[in-house]
Amino acid sequence: MSERMLMIADSVQNCTSIFDTGSDHAFIPIYLIGKNICKLAVASDIRNGPIKVAEKNIRKFDLEDKISLSLCDGIANAAGTDCIIITGMGGQLIADILKREVKIAKKASQLILQPMNAPEKLRRYLWDNGFSIYFENLCREKHKVYNVICAKYTGENHIYKEYELHASEYLVAKEHPLLERYLKTKLKRLDDMVKGGNNPELKNSKLISKLKELVK
Ligand SMILES: C[S@@+](CC[C@H](N)C(=O)[O-])C[C@H]1O[C@@H](n2cnc3c(N)ncnc32)[C@H](O)[C@@H]1O
Repeated sequence: MSERMLMIADSVQNCTSIFDTGSDHAFIPIYLIGKNICKLAVASDIRNGPIKVAEKNIRKFDLEDKISLSLCDGIANAAGTDCIIITGMGGQLIADILKREVKIAKKASQLILQPMNAPEKLRRYLWDNGFSIYFENLCREKHKVYNVICAKYTGENHIYKEYELHASEYLVAKEHPLLERYLKTKLKRLDDMVKGGNNPELKNSKLISKLKELVK
């Protein structure tokens, strides 16, 4: 598995069942069952093609009795699962998937989320809707830094400052060694947006100055 996928899988705490959403190869369920981190798993996808690839891999590892397949949109079939994994998609899409089946999301004791972009949109959705972020991590794969966000429903909305949506208070508090690199990429993107005139309100904004403070 890639560094990104290992980071995702290693964020899962021991549990009975996991539901991997958008599981185009079933690598994460296969790894988690193999390490005995969960007893049962579902590899799910919205498209037939990825389900076929997942099926082939599950058969290759002889895990048909432990990993089942589900062709569905988002987490519609995840009711009763301890741990829901949604990775390799945009932050807004992950938030939309949780929102559509929020009753199911609220019951999971672990939500393992890995946004490929816009993590600030996902953190905003989680914090505004009673979900608490209990763990985050970063890893580097090739030249890119990836972020995983682990959350669960507590019913308490989190009060946050705008920059915390981008910088992750968890990673700042932990002084994660990849945080500076991660924030530099983000700052460059924000600077490019200012230069491109797309978001003039960003210029001299507290967000940019606060993020610059965090990058030594
Ligand atoms: C880029 S792959 C990510 C695969 C894997 N989760 C990972 O992190 O490497 C995205 C997968 O999510 C699936 N997908 C996209 N939207 C989905 C949705 N609403 N519900 C379930 N699967 C979805 C796609 O069909 C595709 O197989």
